[in-house]
Amino acid sequence: MEVAVIAGDGIGNEVVSAARRVLDATAIDIDFVERPMGKDAIETYGTPLPDETVTTVRDIGYALKGPVETPIGSGFRSVNVELRKRLGLYANIRPCRYMDGVASRIDDPSDIDIVVVRENLEDLYSGIEFEKDSDDATELSSFLETNGFELPVKPGYSIKPISEAGSERLIRRAFEYAVEHGRKKVTVVDKANIMKHTDGLFMDVGERVAAEYDIAYEHLLVDNVAQQLVLRPEEFDVIATQNIYGDILSDLAGGLVGGIGMIPSANLGDETGVFASVHGTAPDIAGEGVGNPAAVILSGAMLLDHAGYEDEASRVRKAVRTVVSDGNAVTPDLGGDGSTETMTDAIIDEL
Ligand code: NAI
Repeated sequence: MEVAVIAGDGIGNEVVSAARRVLDATAIDIDFVERPMGKDAIETYGTPLPDETVTTVRDIGYALKGPVETPIGSGFRSVNVELRKRLGLYANIRPCRYMDGVASRIDDPSDIDIVVVRENLEDLYSGIEFEKDSDDATELSSFLETNGFELPVKPGYSIKPISEAGSERLIRRAFEYAVEHGRKKVTVVDKANIMKHTDGLFMDVGERVAAEYDIAYEHLLVDNVAQQLVLRPEEFDVIATQNIYGDILSDLAGGLVGGIGMIPSANLGDETGVFASVHGTAPDIAGEGVGNPAAVILSGAMLLDHAGYEDEASRVRKAVRTVVSDGNAVTPDLGGDGSTETMTDAIIDEL
């Protein structure tokens, strides 16, 4: 099988190389096709997101991606957001499952196994913004005042578009994920009591889609979920939510299980999947060879699952769990004195 590889910036190259070694060690015949993206891509291509990278990922259908930096002045607010848009990657899936050996602030984190399914293309992250005092902001203010809305003085605007179709495909994806992975419950999360035409729409779609599935369903407001995640994290299973809430709640859930250094993710469209670490380029440790490779390795396991190699994916996850719980070869962020290389070697030995 072919897999596009985007090494990215900072520790990206180190941790993505480690993940490639682990995927190779599963004995699946994988042909890795390297493509540039991020700060380093600018020097050669003049853009952090060359067209060729997008085309290759689309053609192959699977990519393993490290973290990338979006340079200021590159023409992109976020190069990651741009990649998601261009490939139609509307669902971000983040499993946050506790692994023995990882420090957590929760007394007994062993039952935490939460999957956040976050909408990836709509909402306040759409980039529709108007600067205070700009002509567009002033025009929008006068339109709103004409329609009877009371406004603060000279506001800036960030607009929140939520569509029925976008909500439906995301929530459906969350239920399909639950079915495929034997999960028991889907919690649809929004703030429907306040934002009736965006979050209320999301809630209504959630109820309608839930009725089609034989899986427990609940609807909760996002502020309540933030509290419940801290007080009773073991009661959550799959969470389906909008872009901004998903961004925040998935970091919260990641924090419960020991931090984002261990969290993999999948960005999925109907045809394409980009599997990537949640953490960034870690500029403070880049080049030192001590970046924790687990997040990208576990993202690689999600890729294998998605490509139909479930047994190999389980073996990779089990090997990571064993090495992390053993604690001998792990990187400093996990309390060890190992390196990216020693940790990767240990995972490959386990495999
Ligand atoms: P960061 O995740 O890079 O670093 C935060 C802290 O976590 C640092 O102390 C870092 O050393 C540590 N850390 C992160 N990953 C680690 C790993 N695998 N092993 C050990 N320690 C790890 O977040 P920060 O500093 O906010 O962002 C740095 C750069 O990364 C920025 O340019 C940002 O835009 C970019 N970024 C890219 C993302 C992506 O491509 N998916 C996601 C988040 C940030």
